[in-house]
Parts: sequence; structure tokens; C-alpha cells
Amino acid sequence: MKKVFQLLTVLMFSVVFPESVFAQHHHSHASHYEENWSEADHHPDHIVLNLTEDPSTSMSVTWRTDTSIRAGIAEIALATAAPKFWRYAQSYNAQTETLDAREVLHAGVASNYHSVTFTGLLPDTLYAYRVGDGRYWSEWFQFMTSSDKAKPFSFLYVGDAQNNILDLWARLIREGYRTAPEAGFIIHAGDLVNQAHSEQDWHEWFTAGSFIHSMLPSISTPGNHEVQSLNQEDASKNIRSLSVQWRPQFNLPLNGVPGYEETVYYIDYNDARIISLNSNYAPQEQKAWLEEVLKENSRKWTIITFHHPIYSASARRDNPLLRNQWKPVFDKYHVDLVLQGHDHSYARGRTKAYVENVLDGVNARDYTGTVYVVSVSGGKMYSLEPTGWDAFEAVEQERAAENTQLFQVISIDGDRLSYESYTAIGELYDAFDLRKSPDGTPNRFVERKGEAIPERRHQNTIPYEDNLPESLETKVLSENPGYQILRVFYFEEVEQKGYYVRLLKENTRMDIKIDTTGKVLEGN
Ligand SMILES: [Fe+2]
Repeated sequence: MKKVFQLLTVLMFSVVFPESVFAQHHHSHASHYEENWSEADHHPDHIVLNLTEDPSTSMSVTWRTDTSIRAGIAEIALATAAPKFWRYAQSYNAQTETLDAREVLHAGVASNYHSVTFTGLLPDTLYAYRVGDGRYWSEWFQFMTSSDKAKPFSFLYVGDAQNNILDLWARLIREGYRTAPEAGFIIHAGDLVNQAHSEQDWHEWFTAGSFIHSMLPSISTPGNHEVQSLNQEDASKNIRSLSVQWRPQFNLPLNGVPGYEETVYYIDYNDARIISLNSNYAPQEQKAWLEEVLKENSRKWTIITFHHPIYSASARRDNPLLRNQWKPVFDKYHVDLVLQGHDHSYARGRTKAYVENVLDGVNARDYTGTVYVVSVSGGKMYSLEPTGWDAFEAVEQERAAENTQLFQVISIDGDRLSYESYTAIGELYDAFDLRKSPDGTPNRFVERKGEAIPERRHQNTIPYEDNLPESLETKVLSENPGYQILRVFYFEEVEQKGYYVRLLKENTRMDIKIDTTGKVLEGN
């Protein structure tokens, strides 16, 4: 079959089937789930910790029950080895809200969400907590508050989980936890799920992460897949809304731009300021807010996360508006690290650093400006732009990967930030260090990719795409003159086996579904 790799990620053409048809079926071994699989019951589930503005003295937790549980309680105690630590537990009444999403596309559920913020905690201290309603309780989980001093710490960062989350993301996030169990939090750089409002998708995300979500707090930023239409009417008008689960099930800081609560915010953790931006909307409004947040930032390290990359890794994808609006601010305030997703591949590189030169004004010094990363954690894979970041000015791409599930561990110890990217089986894939200069000049960059395994591409890894048998390929091409085959996914349904085939003729994209004899089941 004639492979058209560079065209695999074309997004601007007309679509016959929704994108999700290909996303859902790209893995013919995926599990089936009964419709009631993701329903809530009396017992607490979807228990997730979120960092507050001050994680050294407070921590937020949110959980889900069915709507018969009208009031939630959380208990917290200093963790000790003696099992009756709970004698000294403090009890908090939850804020409970009902999410009635029975009419929402892909949701079809009503659940209660309960949230509590534990306050007055001691810094750098291990706590045990549980959630419930007084009768039905979760197990006791443990978490650490952050230090109120500049103590070394680390955190995890993952790109899109998005597809076949329980099938394929579970092993990735569990390997991440095994590699960095002491991590202070996890950054999820958007597209946590594929269908914004799908209770099954979210249930897969919570089941895959299991107790990790309840022990390591999340910093989540929304991707394009977290904003979708609520119903057919909105879809026909192209109106998209934030996942109906997002605000009930997370308890993220409210210190961002009004109207974008819990998607635009910042958190100070030890010596770092972590900022989430919402790359789906209003970059200009967020730019003004960002400028304020960076201007009064006294922390040594600044890390920003959002979904759509400033420098796209994959072919035929670009976000010039974000680059034009946000990158000058990142440059001005010497942002250390920008963590992104969206492109279903891996790329890492640096921009040029601009330093004040007394004689000549502002000069570009070298490539030790902000480090930009695009990463992917789930099972959906695209192809890299073959020319890297050559099309962009003043940026150098230094490491890339295709067809590889990755997680990152980032450690901060005083003036040193160490970045390590690992594959789903725990191999070191990429590494570098940043060193703060005492005189406020740009960071010193220490390349460490030499410690990592060789570069991974489609060409040297297990095939991602399926192939059409030759006889079917001939048939499809002769029935659709002028078209090329763009991508093929084999499927197995209860009574049917066959292929989803995406075809391309100039700028027209067409999707067909055929059986194993080549008979067209859907599409033209
Ligand atoms: Fe995305």
C-alpha cells in the first residue's frame, strides 16, 4: 500500500465521519464497556486531589456518588503507623452539587459531586484522609503537603491520554507513579479524554489512574477535546462548551481570568510558579492576566502548561495566534519551561534568549531561552513534521519521537531543574538540566539526551496503522478514482469485521467503512 505519512494528520479538510470514529476504532483490540459501567453508586469514586493556591497548608479533594448521597464528609488526620490515627481526625462537610447531564451528548448521567478543601495543614507533612457520607467510605489515602521552604521536589507531566484510556494509558500513568512515587503533583496538558462530556471516558481516566489520582494532586488544563457541543442543536451552531464534568469533578484555583475558572490559574509550589492557560479561548485576555501574574512572580522557576503547542511537532498543525500573543510574554519574563500536548508525538527544543546589551539594546544571545515540550501519553499517534521546527524563527528542535507513549519527571533543587522523559516501559528517552545564573542572565542549558535510548520513529517501531489487503486496496482505488488512501483502521464488531478507510483527493477527505469483501457499509 502506498503510504502517505505526511498527510496522516491533515485536519483542515471536510470530514464525513466525525474524527472520533477513527479515534475510537484505531485499536481493534480495545475493550467494550456496558452502558452502565461508568455509573456512580453510593460508594465514593473519581476521588481526585487538586492543589490549592497554597499547597503547603491546604489541599482540595473531590469525589463522585449517585444522587441519593446528598451530603459528603471528608476526614483528615496526621498519618501515623498506628492504625487508629483516625482518633485524631478532623471532619469536613463537603460542598455537594448535582450534575444532571442526562440530556448532554455522550454523558447521559446524573451524579453528585462533593468537594472539600482541607485547611490549616502543616507544611511538608504526611496526612491521611478519606471521603464518604458517614456510612459509605473510601479507603484512607495519604498525601504530602508541600514545603514552605525551597526544598527539592519533583512532579510528573503527561500529554494527551485521550483514547483507549483504560486500555493503554493505565500502564503509562502507573509506570510514571512507579518511577516518581514522591512526585508532588501531576500536570495533565489537556485532552485527558476524547469526548468532553462522556462519562465513560472520564470513568476510564479515573479507573486507569485509580489511587494515583487520590494520592498525587492533579494540575489539569483543558484541551480541544474538553470543549465540545452539549447537544445536536449546539453542534449545528458550532457552539462548544467545557466538559460538564470539569468544574464539578475538579477543585482547581479560582485565581484566573473570570469566565475561565479552573482552566486559567496559577499555583505556587515551593520555589516554582505553575501556570495553566486555556488554549481553546481568548488568548489576548489571558495574555493581560499572564503579564500580571508573571510581573509579581517572586518564585525562582516559572513553568506554564496549556494544550495547543506554540511550536507544533506534527505535520500540518500550527497555532500562530497563540505564538503571536503569548510567546513575547514568555520571552519577556524568562519563562523556564512550557509543557504542551495536542500533537500525539514528542518534540523538545529551545528558543533564543534575549538579553539586555548596554551598548546595542536587546540582543539575542543563544538558544538558552524558554524550553518548549510537546508530549503524548495515550495510545493515539501522529507523524512528526519531517522538517522539525525549521519553519519557525529563533527556535531549535533538539529531540523528537513518534509512536511512543511517554511521561516526564521534572525535579527542582535550588538553582537546578532536571528534566527527564521516559517511555511507557521506563526507558530514559530525553533529558536535560537547566541551571539558574546568579546574575539573572539566561539559564545555562545542559544537554543530557546522550544518556537516552536511540530516537524512535514510525520506521523503527511496531506499525501503528493497519494495511488493506492488496485486493481490497485495488477495489477501493478503482471505485474512487483520483483518491489516495490516507489511513486504514481494521475493526471487529460483534457481527462485522472490516476496515475504516480515509481517502484523500486534493483537498477533499472522505471516510468509508467496508467489510472484509470490500462492500461499502457506510460512506459513499
Ligand atoms: Fe488536542
